[in-house]
Amino acid sequence: MCGIVGYLGDRPAYDILIKGLKRLEYRGYDSAGVAMIHNGAFSLFKCKGKVSDLEEAVGMQDKSGNVGIGHTRWATHGPPNDVNAHPHASNDGTLVLIHNGIIENYASLKSELINRGHVFKSDTDTEVLVHFIEDIRDKTGANLFDAVRIALSEVIGAYAIVILDKSNPHQMIAARKSSPLVIGVGKDNEFYIASDATPIIEYTRNVVYLEDEEIARLDRTDGLKIVTISNQNKDPYVQELEMKLEAIEKGGYDSFMLKEIHEQPRSINDSIRGRMNLGMGTVKMSGVDEHADRWNKATRILVVACGTSWHAGLVAEYLFEEFARIPVEVEYASEFRYRNPVIYPTDVVIAISQSGETADTLAAIELAKEAGAFIFGVCNVVGSSIARATHSGAYTHAGPEIGVASTKAFTAQVSVLYLLALSVAQLRGMMRPERLNRLMAELNSVPEKIAEVLKTNEDVKKIAEIYKDSTNALYLGRGYSFPVALEGALKLKEISYIHAEGYPAAEMKHGPIALIDEEMPVFVIATQGASYEKVVSNIQEVKARKGKIIAIVTEGDKVVKELADHAIEIPKSDDSLVPLISVIPFQLLSYHVAVMRGCNVDQPRNLAKSVTVE
Ligand code: G6P
Repeated sequence: MCGIVGYLGDRPAYDILIKGLKRLEYRGYDSAGVAMIHNGAFSLFKCKGKVSDLEEAVGMQDKSGNVGIGHTRWATHGPPNDVNAHPHASNDGTLVLIHNGIIENYASLKSELINRGHVFKSDTDTEVLVHFIEDIRDKTGANLFDAVRIALSEVIGAYAIVILDKSNPHQMIAARKSSPLVIGVGKDNEFYIASDATPIIEYTRNVVYLEDEEIARLDRTDGLKIVTISNQNKDPYVQELEMKLEAIEKGGYDSFMLKEIHEQPRSINDSIRGRMNLGMGTVKMSGVDEHADRWNKATRILVVACGTSWHAGLVAEYLFEEFARIPVEVEYASEFRYRNPVIYPTDVVIAISQSGETADTLAAIELAKEAGAFIFGVCNVVGSSIARATHSGAYTHAGPEIGVASTKAFTAQVSVLYLLALSVAQLRGMMRPERLNRLMAELNSVPEKIAEVLKTNEDVKKIAEIYKDSTNALYLGRGYSFPVALEGALKLKEISYIHAEGYPAAEMKHGPIALIDEEMPVFVIATQGASYEKVVSNIQEVKARKGKIIAIVTEGDKVVKELADHAIEIPKSDDSLVPLISVIPFQLLSYHVAVMRGCNVDQPRNLAKSVTVE
């Protein structure tokens, strides 16, 4: 979950690296660093803090060089400070390296190296790796490309690395295992490299995704050469990127999160476009049609995911059970992978991930694959590790999501899972055509309804003003709205650092009710539908304990509005589609509260957008 960027060509590297690091800062932002080669020496700058702190620290110093690497860190080994920031140098200072991932056997390698006279400056596993590569190079007399390959064959763990040798400014070596790396191929052997394509797209659209256990040599004269750890040559597969530059810029908004919240009418349209034929009354998901036998014989669906994606998975549980009548279990990938779970070859596993790089979700996929299950991915990032590790899948097409707190990716995931559930129900003959048609038409109208809800922004802001100093908050919902209660609470705690809990509304009386007093804001999804009356009773239980009710209600509602301290109206829709609409005011509320509390909404403390370590 660190960000990696590199450049090799004719242009000044520093500006390209800094711009790239800013684009990658969502991956980690507790320290940053760059190294360029100039006149046979490294110019190495690194410091604790954000990329802007690094720029300030570098100031007017000489930053020449047409080859360089840059890194933005999310600390794993050792606290964020200047010394632990990457790049790290080898013992003799001839090599520098940046790394994303964890070297699990770093402690034993380190003690061996110390015995051989190596001196370490930092607490990081990364510094051990660069010393180890240097040691292999010196011991075996191998060139750097071979030394990296030999060293990595002895390393246990996950890595994406880029390494420079100051005596060879025409070359850069990179490798990956379980952490992403994309190589941008420019003209005349000019190369870019990064953790994702966002730092690359303004320079070239031609990219090569490095595969696991591949090592690449980028060379100004010889071009790109790729070998595997077992020393097999691989032909680089150059693909064309479709991403647009505007999609990764703020477009006039104060933050990426606010931009991404407002993009949802468009992003949901993109998620559902071409997948429904309203005239014919059919849903078309290629991953279902092409693997109809696996979906037909499925006796159970397992969902594996983390964070917000797990919440989308919880919505999918309700959808699949209601529409397709298949039992569903929703698993935290991190628990699933270590639980020795029972997995049948007739299971369908749906892996949900915005980034497509989450380490725990990837490991859960591998486990389920070994057991013979069919794996279907729901990812946002095209070409990501999870997208490639699954048997089939559907992209969410939300566009790049940069804000660390997920917003448009969640609604895109739920939209795709909605279509998936409809499509499987259609395949298995579980849904009458009239109902299918009605639900498709309603899904089609969701983007418009969200555009309406976004107009409540000023009202939501006033509510945020009232509750911004709360220390706790409770979010309640039932049925389809329970996952939204969890997601609402997660959004608030992630970016405003207010403790918040999401709970099934009825379960509240078995614990959280003890917390309720006149200081406690209780956010309730109380839209008119199957559990409306029950939720009204739960609201009364809160009111009886003097809690403050902020309710999301259906347009025209009177009963809840009467009871609640504040109400936000949303357009009427089928219960199954309420999550897509009711989550919007919660996203806006968290955003405003965080801004009012002076928090950095796009880069909340301690979090990272892409969690490539377990
Ligand atoms: C991190 C992010 C969350 C995200 C979770 C899962 O914790 O901060 O926003 O929901 O990872 O990420 P994924 O990319 O797999 O959806």
